[in-house]
Parts: sequence; C-alpha cells; structure tokens
Amino acid sequence: MSLAPTRCASSSHYAVPERPAAVALLGGGVIGAGWVARFVLNGVDVRLFDPDPDAPRKIGEVLDNARRAYGRLTLAPLPPPGQLTFADTAAEAVEGASFVQESAPERPEVKRELLAAASAAAPPQTVICSSTSGLRPSLLQDGMRHPERFAVGHPFNPVYLLPLVEVCGGERTAPEFLDRAAAVYEAVGMHPLRVRTEIDGFLADRLLEALWREALWLVQDDVATVAEIDDAIRYGAGLRWAFMGTFLTYRIAGGEAGMRHFMEQFGPALQWPWTKFVDVPELTDDLVAKIAGQSDVQAAGRSTRELERLRDDCLVAVLQGLRAMGAGAGADLAAWERVLFESGNTRVLGEDDDLTQPARLHSARVPADWIDYNGHVHESRYLQLFGDASDALLRYLGVDAEYLANSSYFTVETHLCHLRALAGGDRVHVTTQVLGWDPKRLHVFHTLYRDGEEEPVATAEQLFLHVDTAAGRAAGVREGVRDRLSRLADAHARLPPPERGGRRIALG
Ligand SMILES: NC(=O)c1ccc[n+]([C@@H]2O[C@H](COP(=O)([O-])OP(=O)(O)OC[C@H]3O[C@@H](n4cnc5c(N)ncnc54)[C@H](O)[C@@H]3O)[C@@H](O)[C@H]2O)c1
Repeated sequence: MSLAPTRCASSSHYAVPERPAAVALLGGGVIGAGWVARFVLNGVDVRLFDPDPDAPRKIGEVLDNARRAYGRLTLAPLPPPGQLTFADTAAEAVEGASFVQESAPERPEVKRELLAAASAAAPPQTVICSSTSGLRPSLLQDGMRHPERFAVGHPFNPVYLLPLVEVCGGERTAPEFLDRAAAVYEAVGMHPLRVRTEIDGFLADRLLEALWREALWLVQDDVATVAEIDDAIRYGAGLRWAFMGTFLTYRIAGGEAGMRHFMEQFGPALQWPWTKFVDVPELTDDLVAKIAGQSDVQAAGRSTRELERLRDDCLVAVLQGLRAMGAGAGADLAAWERVLFESGNTRVLGEDDDLTQPARLHSARVPADWIDYNGHVHESRYLQLFGDASDALLRYLGVDAEYLANSSYFTVETHLCHLRALAGGDRVHVTTQVLGWDPKRLHVFHTLYRDGEEEPVATAEQLFLHVDTAAGRAAGVREGVRDRLSRLADAHARLPPPERGGRRIALG
C-alpha cells in the first residue's frame, strides 16, 4: 500500500490460459533478459543458457529495473517470483521444458545451430519459439527435430512492459503449436498478434523499417539531427500511435467524411517525391559516426540503465493512462491485473473465519537478487513485503476494484523493526493484527516470519488514512468494508497487544 489507490479483484471471472510452471530461455541479452523479467515476475521458473559469463550481471540489472517498473505499473498482487537458474548448455536448459524461447543474436547460422541443438534435446511436444525480428520461421525451422512445434514469437523491447508479441509459423509449423505459443504469451500478460502470412520482418518491423530508412536519409542529407527527428515523432504522431495506430488516426484526420476523404485528399501526395523509402543510404563510417555522435549528445551522459528507467517510467504512465480509457495496450494491462487479482490472495473475510489469531494473509518467496552488498536482504524489501501484506488485508476487508474507483487507504506512517536477517530463497509469511480503527483511520501491526519458525524476522506498525480519491481528501470508510473491519478489529482487540507495538526510536 502506498500513496496511490490500490487496484483489487473484480468479481467477474476472466479466462486466460494457465501459466507454465517453468520455461527455458536461450540467450540472455537485451531481449532474453526482458523475457527473464516477464516470466520470473509472472511467477514462472526460468532456466537460461547464455555463453556470456557476464550474462547473470546484466540480467540481474534488467530484472531490477523490471521489478521497479512493475512496482509502479500495478498494485495487483504479483505471484511469488519464479526462480532463475543458469544452465551450461542449451540441451541442459531445455531438458523437460514445455516451452522454449530463443533470443540469440540475429544471425541465421547461430540461430539454426542453437535451435537444432535445442530441438534434439527437448521432448517432441515442447513449443520452441524464436524472438527473431525478421527472419522467416521456415528458414529457422529447417534442420530442427520436430519442426512442426516451431514458431516465431517476436517481442518488443522492453519485453516485460510491452505486451505485443507477433506469432508467425513457418511452412512446417502445425497450427496446434501456434495456439500453444499464443497461450503461453497470453498467460504472462502479453498480446499475441497472429501474423498470418510469413514475410520477412513480419508486420511491425516492416513499418518500423520504413520509418528507420526515412530517418537515416534525413540525417544523411543533413536535413535534421537525430534529436530533431525524435522530436518530430514524440510530440506528434507518436502520442497517437499508442492507442489508435495509423489507419484509425487517418480516418479521423479525414474529418466527417472519414477515410475516403482522407485518401482523396492525401492520395496525390503518394505520387510526389516525399519519400526515399525504396532507396537505402549506405551506412558509411562517416554516417555511422555522425549518428552515434549526435546520439551521444542526445543521451547527455545518461547511462543505458538510466535511460531504460526513464523509458520504463514513461511507458508505465502511458499504460496506466490507456488502462483508464480501456484503450489499446491498456485493455491488456487491465485484463492481466484481473487475472492477478483473481489468482492472488483475494479471500474476503467470511463468517466462519477463525479470528482468534492475527490474520495470515500474505506469503512470498524471497528472490535471490534481493540481497545487498552485505549479503542480506536490502531494507527496502521489508517495506515491500509489509506493503504487500497491507494490500492483502485490504482485499480481505473487501476493498475491490469497484471500491477503489473512488476510495482507498493511503499509508501515512510506518515503523519498521529489523530483528533477523533473511536470505535469498527463504519462504516467508506475514501475520497482521488490527490495533485500532475509526471511520477515517486504520492502525495495524504486521509480523514477518520465515516459514516453519516462531521467532519473527521483522515487524511493521502502520497507520493508514481512508481517502476519497476523487475529492482528494480524507473520508469515512464505506459500508461493507466498514462492517468487516469492525468485526476483525473487535476480534483482534481480544488478542494480546504485540510486544513491539507502539515503540519509538530512542537510545535508552
Ligand atoms: N533488441 C531489440 O530491440 C529486439 C527486439 C525484438 C526482437 N529482437 C531479436 O531478439 C534476438 C536477440 O536480440 P538482442 O537484442 O537481445 O541481442 P543481444 O546481442 O543483446 O543478445 C544476444 C545474446 O545471445 C547470447 N548468445 C550468443 N550466442 C548464443 C548461443 N549460441 N546460445 C545462446 N545464447 C547465445 C549472447 O551472449 C547475448 O547475451 C534477435 O533475434 C533480435 O532480432 C531484438
């Protein structure tokens, strides 16, 4: 729980395919690391092969950025993260896997060799997909054992935030495997788009390539700098593309007469020399140096990871805006959240619940990469665990999506006590006792335990304010939630007060 409204379960059931328990990934570069984040943060175990000894560090950094992005993107209860393990060979990675995603360099000979090795080791029913940006699946599946289970699953960077994945089969792909590939992507919140005709570059890269070629010409001919070209996109058409694409945008641009009028008005321009698209500038050393130099100026000293975080924060803002409108990728985000809420801990306080103990509403597994330079779980993660426990408490009290449309609890104070260290991989749970409440405030005490132990690892005491989010001010808790809260608080008042409750920080 934070200074933002929490999104909770909707009552309607949303049918999406079941998540696989584990997947194998081949290649852990820019795209492979994005796949790691997409799967691990959706609760799927990942076994990865990448010959680069530096891959675990790079993947760890991308995972950190992805966790940060998800923390901002959604307040839905994410499943306990999947485990990431590294394999020494492709064969070891794919052994027993039901789904494999290859993201090796875009070189046909590298991919074909890798896919041949993976297909020789994976069971015949295993779906094998490639992230290739433009190589035809028929070219890649040649040389594979059981090529009928191969398809392209072309994602977009960052894979953990952008939902689109183009799914395209080759001449020998069986439709059943295309369905299975699409189901895996959907199960982790993605938007599979079937590319029905096998073409180089598929759909999206055909379009992006056209823009890229034109942009290269404009730089080559000194018409504009790379920054000016980026401005030409981001202040105009780029904003529209996120929710309407090209055709719907132009339909509106045609005014009341719509698309026909647009085509009549701008049709003649197709004959004018507006584009150099058919021709490609030669990437001479001079042109590459010019573009790279201008790009350095544009980056203004910011590292790739810094720029990734900026990109992620902006994407999160766009996705959240689109979610509110139910438009484009926002609709996929809302569907993904519904599933998370339904499959997460959404138990609501019932008549028969045993209230003679603090409520045990949240459990998690500590990811290995939560460890800081001291070898311990970083202190911020404790707040995350307790924040997740607070969200679970709210759902238990009946705070659901409908309620959150105009009301929520905001955290106004937290006191954390760190008692013992946690290690990566530990399974933990949090118990919660309501210490007090009135119509506008809620006072709770959380205790974090390692599973199977009686000594607490940490505690947190928190105060929340009930807010009318539309009006932006404190307001009374509403019926239903109020009744459950009253019943839970009455029961918890009969429990002994927590030993560490009401502590203040002092030396003596
Ligand atoms: N970068 C993008 O924006 C983008 C977008 C969509 C799709 N793709 C596609 O994804 C694939 C990967 O691209 P990338 O940008 O991540 O490249 P990358 O160079 O960042 O990563 C490639 C990774 O593959 C590893 N590798 C090399 N040989 C390998 C082998 N034999 N087995 C396993 N791993 C091996 C490398 O060590 C490296 O970590 C390409 O097919 C590319 O076309 C890229």
